[in-house]
This record gives sequence, structure tokens and C-alpha cells, in this order.
Amino acid sequence: MKKVLPWETFKNILKDKNILIGVTGGIAIYKVLSLVSSLVKEGANLKIIMTPDSQKFVSKMTFTSVGNCEVFTDPFEFEASIPHTTLSSWADVLVIAPATANTIAKIANGFADNLLTMTVLAFQKKKILVPAMNTRMYENPATLENIEKLRKLGWIILEPEEGRLACGDIGKGRYPENEKVLEVIKDCFIEREKVDNLPAIVTAGPTLEWIDTVRYISNPSSGKMGFAIAKELAKRGFEVSLISGPTHLTPYENLKEFVSIETADEMYREVLKRFEKTSLLVMTAAVADFKPAVRQTHKLKKENLEELSIKLVKNPDILKEISKIKKEQIVVGFAAESEDLLKNAKKKLEEKKLDLIVANDISRKDIGFSSDYNEVKFIYSNGKVEEIERSSKEYIAYVIGNKLVDIFNAKL
Ligand code: PMT
Repeated sequence: MKKVLPWETFKNILKDKNILIGVTGGIAIYKVLSLVSSLVKEGANLKIIMTPDSQKFVSKMTFTSVGNCEVFTDPFEFEASIPHTTLSSWADVLVIAPATANTIAKIANGFADNLLTMTVLAFQKKKILVPAMNTRMYENPATLENIEKLRKLGWIILEPEEGRLACGDIGKGRYPENEKVLEVIKDCFIEREKVDNLPAIVTAGPTLEWIDTVRYISNPSSGKMGFAIAKELAKRGFEVSLISGPTHLTPYENLKEFVSIETADEMYREVLKRFEKTSLLVMTAAVADFKPAVRQTHKLKKENLEELSIKLVKNPDILKEISKIKKEQIVVGFAAESEDLLKNAKKKLEEKKLDLIVANDISRKDIGFSSDYNEVKFIYSNGKVEEIERSSKEYIAYVIGNKLVDIFNAKL
């Protein structure tokens, strides 16, 4: 059995990468200290440029200590080398965080009045901007226009989040979670092939099968696996329709659409509606196999009831129905197994005429349902089997994304 890249490879993607952080003078600067600390833990080589105003918020010494790296502030402080050209050649990626409206305006208009703006002008590789400021400043047409201009010039822009700001205002302008920033930085180092806007359907989460108006039958699917796959596919150029049962998750912003359903019947209808025109279907959802024969239209009374029997009838097997109309589409199923993982998953692969089934052991508490982790075996229709050791669902989705791109590129 071939082992796929271990989790460590993904985790270490920033190891020995040269990352230049540009820090400007906004209150979110204290969050950037924690970003710097995470980058150090990931093994990145860091250099930091602080603008003059940023040093009024946090000292150069703090960044030097947290980043365990050189921190530059003055374009004229070195005699041996010219700092802005040296730094811009050294770095693989430049991240400006937090990026104030002032610095954004300067770089959008080609100013070079401090070491950071000078370095930006000379920098020709991947550039990430993390704007963070007061809502009114962010929503000012001048700022939005400057950001749009930078986006068109190739900057990767991390949208600020909405919420309560340091000044007490509520609105858009908050510095995003550092995990998001880290992910965008990692993305710069992942070489991915892309597909050209192929439609894809991903299902996720549980289904709810209603007994009455307040009670239902369901399962512990959190949607994490399916949401992660939808995101990875969207990043690779698929136009993703994510059809999901109830979860607490926020779908990735660049999906084609997010369709919220409750029951297996609703999921079936939504998949069917789109299937003919899709190129890919990934069924990650934990679809309930049975539903109550009757859905009561009122809350069942418990008084005078010692026991209650509910008649269950079968839900549609979405993948089985799909196998009857499948043409050129690639169809991927998941197999949730508690014993004989390979044997049972192979049976499902054949019965549902799948191209690939991803089998996971749902009897373990440290993977599968609700966990942030999973451990999977890939079983292909040609009999090939591969496995990924216990890894984050994010990483497993990343590998699945790569595999699906390979399958489509081989088909073309
Ligand atoms: O959501 P998480 O908390 O992240 O957990 C992820 C997961 C454990 C739910 C996921 O990794 C997983 O295993 N999904 C499949 C769950 C399942 O229903 O497995 P199954 O072996 O019962 O079904 C096999 C396949 O048939 C699945 O692709 C399923 O979506 C599909 N199916 C099942 C029943 C049904 N009526 N129609 C279907 O199409």
C-alpha cells in the first residue's frame, strides 16, 4: 500500500522559507507578534521591517525578541548593503500586517518614503496585504479603491473581518485570525495545478430526519471534512456547490454556492438538480439511511407514554441513485466503517459504481466524526489502494484536492 505524504510535510511547508514581514502603525500590531511567533515555530526564516509609526505602538526590541530575527527600520542604517534592494531580493514572500490605510495609499501610488514602501517598490514576488483599521477608514472609497488597485496589481488581499474594533465601533476592519493569515502564507508555497472552472458538488454534514416538530434522528457529523474538501476544490479552480446539513461552520468565501438542507430527501433533490451538469461529485455527507415513516406536525406528548415505537423507512441512497444516471462525471464516496474497513469500503465502491472511495474508521474517537483529524484509505475503481496516516482534515482535503486535479488532468 502506497503511503501518501505524511502530515509533517504539509506542516513544515514554511520551513527555511524566507518571509519578510512589513509592520505598520495600527493597533492590530499586537496580533502580528503572535503571527511572527507562529512563523518562527513553523521554521520560517524571518526579517521584519517596521515603519516609523509602528514603533510608537511596539518597540523594535519586542519584534526582534519574538521573531528571533533582524528588524529593520531605517533605510540609511546600513553602510555595507542597500537594505531595500537586499531585503526585496532575499524574501520569497512579503506580508504587510497590519496594513494601515496610509501605507496602503502609499504603495497603491508608488510612494517610496520609508524603508517598507521602498522595499515594496523593489519587490517582485508574492505579496500579501492584511488591512486592519477603523470601519469608516476602511469603507472610505479612497481606501477601497487603493485596495482594489493593489488586488489588480497582483497583491493577495486578506479581507478584514467584521466585529467590534479597538475604538469601540462595530463594523468591517478587524485584523483576521492569524490562522487565516498563516494559511494564505502557506498557500504561496504550495505549487498547485488547477482545473478550468469545472463544476463540482460537495456534500457535507449530517441530515436531520424529523420525528415531530422538535425531535429528530441525526448523527455527529460536524461538516469539517466536507467543508475542507469544498474549500480545497474551490482553490484549485472548481466551481463548487456545497450542499450541507446543519453545522456550525462558515463556508469558504469563494464557493460558487452554499446550499443548506436538513433532510436526506432535500439533499438528494439538490444533488440531482445539479448532477447532469457537474463534472465531479464528492459525497462526504453522513446521510441518514432511515427516516421516520411519518413526520408528526405537532410535538408528541410524553404524558401517559411509557414507551414509543417509531416506524422508520429507508431514505434514498443518493449515490446508488446517481450511479444509474452517471455518465462522464467523477463520483467520490466516503465509507464510514467501524470494522473490516477495506472489505466494506470496496463493497460500497462497487455497489455505488464509484471512481474512488475514501474509507475512514468511525469507531475511533481521535479521528472521523466531529474530530479535527482523520485517517483514511483511498480505494480506486481499478483496485489501487493508498492511505494517509492520522492527519488534520485540512491536510486530507488538500491531498484529495490534488488527487482530483490529477484525475481530471489525466482525463483531458
Ligand atoms: O463531518 P465530520 O465530523 O468532519 O465527519 C466526517 C465523516 C466521518 C462524516 C466523513 O468522513 C464520512 O465518513 N462521510 C460518509 C458518512 C456515511 O454516510 O458513510 P456510509 O458508509 O454510510 O455511506 C457511504 C457513502 O454513501 C457516503 O459517501 C455517503 O455520503 C453516501 N450515502 C449514504 C447514505 C445514503 N442514504 N445516501 C448516500 O449517498
